Amino acid sequence: MNDLFDFKPKAVRFAVMGNPVEHSRSPEIHREFALQTGINLEYDRIRIDGGFEQAVSHFQASNGAGLNITVPFKVDAWKLCNRPGNQLSNRAGTARAVNTLRFEENGTIYGDNTDGTGLVTDLEQNIGLALESLSILLIGAGGAVRGILEPLLACCPARLDITNRTMSKASEMADLFGEKVNPVTLQETGRRQYDLVINGTAAGLEGQMPELDSHCIGPNTLAYDMVYGSRLTPFMEWALDNGAYAVHDGLGMLVEQAAASFHLWHGVHPQTRPVVELISKIHHVRSI
Ligand code: ATR
Repeated sequence: MNDLFDFKPKAVRFAVMGNPVEHSRSPEIHREFALQTGINLEYDRIRIDGGFEQAVSHFQASNGAGLNITVPFKVDAWKLCNRPGNQLSNRAGTARAVNTLRFEENGTIYGDNTDGTGLVTDLEQNIGLALESLSILLIGAGGAVRGILEPLLACCPARLDITNRTMSKASEMADLFGEKVNPVTLQETGRRQYDLVINGTAAGLEGQMPELDSHCIGPNTLAYDMVYGSRLTPFMEWALDNGAYAVHDGLGMLVEQAAASFHLWHGVHPQTRPVVELISKIHHVRSI
């Protein structure tokens, strides 16, 4: 029963939806942002086995204001927002993958993708790497990589190569961007040493890593793994063993993409550095 004299504003509801989501750090991150900005919100984890659109409608109908969408539903979320009546941001339209939903008052669902801006902000602002004129190798051609290609290209790297275990998927993705992205096979990755090598595959989640040629790494290479864990990922260990001058995991990207989602929902951009520091002190899990 509602308390007639309870005048406290009701918390609006947000959540991360996907599978798995048990170890997601997004609730902690959004609660930290909420404390920082004085916004009253609830943020939960919702694990679904299927029935994506039904689960979204149900959440929307239960005072839901927005959702983060994670594996394996980012493309389903794009399909939902691509329907007449709903809306997509330009960057989510190009990526054909959505990681943030906002439910408008008229019932429209707006879909955005904040993964790319999260990665670029982490690299440029937190790590201090200017991407302009760098040579970049991107590994992977799944949902996680779709969202980051265009934002990386917008930083004007000298070269952007993409490789993947299933080469045809890397070639298809490169084709979307014409001559600006070059597909290379895993074996061809050793033809040059890159300034930045980004692992966008899910291999690290299984304790594995793609079969790259180690010559792509050298003393001028920074290696970045988009997943994160309590320890160095296999890709980070491999990059250090092969002489990379620095390695980073995807925790900063996670916090930055969350901040961009928070801005989309609340119109305020929270401070990310204290949250990266807080979460990295206690983090022990792996997926967004
Ligand atoms: P996500 O949304 O996390 O990107 P995905 O769309 O299933 O998930 O894509 C997973 C990516 O990780 C793909 O690039 C996949 O390579 P394939 O296209 O060849 O499947 C890559 N990947 C997953 N496990 C891998 C492994 N053990 N070694 C190399 N690449 C792997």
